[in-house]
Amino acid sequence: MSDYIKLPGLIDCHVHFREPGFEHKATMESESAAAASGGVLTVCDMPNTNPMTTTVEAFRDKVKRSEKVRDVDIRFFFGLASSEDISEFKKLMSDSELKKKCSGAKVFFDHSTGNMGADKSVIEEAFKVCAELEAPLVTHCEDVYINKEAHNIINSASNDKQDVSLHSLMRPCDSEVKAIEEALEFTKKYGTQLHIAHLSTGLGLKLVKTAKESGLKVTCEVAPHHLFLTVDDYEKLGTLGKMNPPLRTASEQQALWSGIADGTVDCISTDHAPHTLDEKNTDDPLSAPSGVPGVETMLPLLLTVASGGWPNPRSDRAEAQIEASDIVRLCFENPNKIFNLGISDELRIKVDTDAEWVIKGSALHYKCGWTPYEGWRVRGKVTNVG
Ligand code: DOR
Ligand code: ZN
Repeated sequence: MSDYIKLPGLIDCHVHFREPGFEHKATMESESAAAASGGVLTVCDMPNTNPMTTTVEAFRDKVKRSEKVRDVDIRFFFGLASSEDISEFKKLMSDSELKKKCSGAKVFFDHSTGNMGADKSVIEEAFKVCAELEAPLVTHCEDVYINKEAHNIINSASNDKQDVSLHSLMRPCDSEVKAIEEALEFTKKYGTQLHIAHLSTGLGLKLVKTAKESGLKVTCEVAPHHLFLTVDDYEKLGTLGKMNPPLRTASEQQALWSGIADGTVDCISTDHAPHTLDEKNTDDPLSAPSGVPGVETMLPLLLTVASGGWPNPRSDRAEAQIEASDIVRLCFENPNKIFNLGISDELRIKVDTDAEWVIKGSALHYKCGWTPYEGWRVRGKVTNVG
């Protein structure tokens, strides 16, 4: 039996399409095909490419490259890692054409893939300038000092340097919480419109909830890998389960689902961050690149939950609740509003909510050819776009 629903083409406000510079991992064309096949028709791409998207020239080049992509509307974040980048951002925001393609600025509180971690003074300046320019500021919230300390402690205490699950201990929950506290303080000081990327902890969510209640302009997103995977999945996934922020325990996962239920979570976005299998399969798991692909599987995973199921065959169902109308709010209406994207809801996708299928990396459109959800049975398939 088939049961069709129509939804607006989804918006994924956090992807890494890797172009230019890392076309061996992914290209705008390959990942857009994957996005469209997963019902995502608009994406906001992150600045950790090569060159980094921290100059007007690099931004213009990305926009030009995106013009050859027909099936997906690609918008771009501008990276702020130094004071020169901030001057460039001001220039970009005074260019009315390029500004239309800019979804906001991105600042990393600690290094992640691409080493774009910014100094404290640059971070504060980013909050100030984004407030002046009325641009949304997206933050990767992990505290550099807590991460460093945790890294050193685990490194000296552990005999098994091959155990990738140590990655979660080296980037602990309190690192995210501390960085969120700081980000909220800057938002309070300058009135910046703050969006917290890939929030992964219950305490982080609590801070956001309280900040919202006190009237601060803050929103947040969670990623499917934190909703569907936990530290228990390292055993099966190895480095394919390594990302930043890292996998957390089942109780943090449960907190994210509760944040969806109580409205604290504003968006679900994928942090689609492909690396090749060769790069992931290194002899030194803890130095494998962080990031997992996800843009093609977000909707079927969520629809599986909407149908009352749970796609991870290795774990018990979290207390998870979501309906199609929530998916539209979290993956279309809210990102559209937060990043001022002006995307029409008239471009629809048609979804067969009864179609059951098994996720296989080789059958997805990603250039990297793998998925952390290999072999999972899901319910819900995009059948048509337009
Ligand atoms: O896991 C991650 N991968 N986290 C990031 O912050 C960056 C991303 C990437 O670009 O690979
Ligand atoms: Zn990211």
